[in-house]
Order: sequence, then C-alpha cells, then structure tokens
Amino acid sequence: MPLKPLIAGNWKMNGDTASLGEIEAISEVVSASPPRADILICPPATLIFQAAQTAAGRIAIGGQNCSAEPCGAFTGDVSAEMLRDAGATAVIVGHSERRRFHGETDSMVAAKTLAAWRAGLLAIVCVGETEGERLAGDHQTVCKTQLRGSVPDRAKAGNTAIAYEPVWAIGTGKTPALSDIASMHRHIRECLVERFGPEGNSIRILYGGSVKPENAREILFTPEVGGALVGGASLKAADFCAIFSAAPQGT
Ligand code: 13P
Repeated sequence: MPLKPLIAGNWKMNGDTASLGEIEAISEVVSASPPRADILICPPATLIFQAAQTAAGRIAIGGQNCSAEPCGAFTGDVSAEMLRDAGATAVIVGHSERRRFHGETDSMVAAKTLAAWRAGLLAIVCVGETEGERLAGDHQTVCKTQLRGSVPDRAKAGNTAIAYEPVWAIGTGKTPALSDIASMHRHIRECLVERFGPEGNSIRILYGGSVKPENAREILFTPEVGGALVGGASLKAADFCAIFSAAPQGT
C-alpha cells in the first residue's frame, strides 16, 4: 500500500532560535487542517531539540546528517541516536552538499543509513546527477550506482525514503522537465523493485531541487513522485505550507 506523500524541508545551515516561530506557524497550519501528507522539517542540529518541543508531534523533525557511529571520539559529529534523543524521527543522508563538501562516498552514506535504522530513524537517502552527467546522458547510470552503493539491504518503506535531487537543480531555480522527473523516478522505482521486490514499490521517492509554491503542484502530481525535499522554500512557513497544500491527497 503506498504511503502518504512526504513533504520535507531541509533548512541546511540556516536558522536560529528566532526561526522556531516558523516551526510553530507550520505546525499550526497542519493541526488546523491536517494534510494527508507527512510533514517533516530538518533544521540545523542546534535547533532539533527545541524544534521538536515546539512541534509537539504536530509535524516531524529530522536531522540533516548523522555519524555512522553511535558514540565515541569523533569530535564535531552527531550520532543518529543523539538525533533521536533530541526528538528527531528522520535524518537526511548523502545529500549532494555532504557528498561534495565533505567527500561522502556511497559506502559512507550506506553506513549512515544503517546508523539511522539502528536509532529507529527514517533515512532519506539522496541521489542525483550533476549537470555534466546529465548532459553526457549518464544520469540514470549515476543514480543507479548511487542507489546500489548508498542504500543497504533491508530497506523498507518504513525505514527509508529516496530523494532524487539533480545537483544542477539545487538552489538554482532550474528544474528538470516534468517528463524528465517522471522518467528518472520511474527508473529509480525499477531499481528499487529489482533490488527489494514488491517492497520496492512502497518506498517513497521524493523530488528535490528548486521546488517552490509555483511549481509544487505539477511536480507533486508527476507519476512516481512521492513527495518533495524542499530547501530554500522551506525556510518561510507561508511558502512551505503552500507547497504541502499542493500535495495529492494520500491514503
Ligand atoms: P532548493 O529547494 O533550495 O533548491 O534545495 C533543494 C535541496 O537541496 C533540498 O535538500
């Protein structure tokens, strides 16, 4: 049975305690008229505890990254268990900014996904091609390789979502043609079913990259799009609420 769409906001390295007002505003909209979509905000780690207190179960709160290790001498890192303890129920892993600026490889992302599962968090595993890879026609192969290397065995709809984020669409205002989103999501679906059997049909595949109120509806109604991972437009409650209000009504 397909899950509800998941509309997730990735605040990246933005936000301070004043931004908790946006969490409150989003939570109020969700509780006044519950969308038939799961709503998640991933603020910076410093805000997770307060964001979860503010949301008080009305929306879910997640991390943007985690260590593969549960604890120990890893200065500056935060474990999946710590995210969970702070009130997170999900974590983004393998975002292209982590792959690019922190040298994260597919096997590192797979280890982080296992850590997320170990802590009982939903892992949102990001894949996506660069502009050069798309121009070279390698986008499907690149994403298939990332999926194979980054998603461990035993992925299920309950512990994993995939986010397809073409690197060239992130923060640029550019989005792929809807037909290109549809064909990439279909390709990812085929990879998931080949690997995980029927369970692969239930794992949500989110689209990310310049999702805004203006294009949310057409993207969210594209076949095999099971939600969105929203960057810039998740920072303001009004924009983010407009995006999740455009989501199809899930079951
Ligand atoms: P933008 O929505 O700002 O393009 O960012 C997308 C993204 O990277 C979400 O993880």
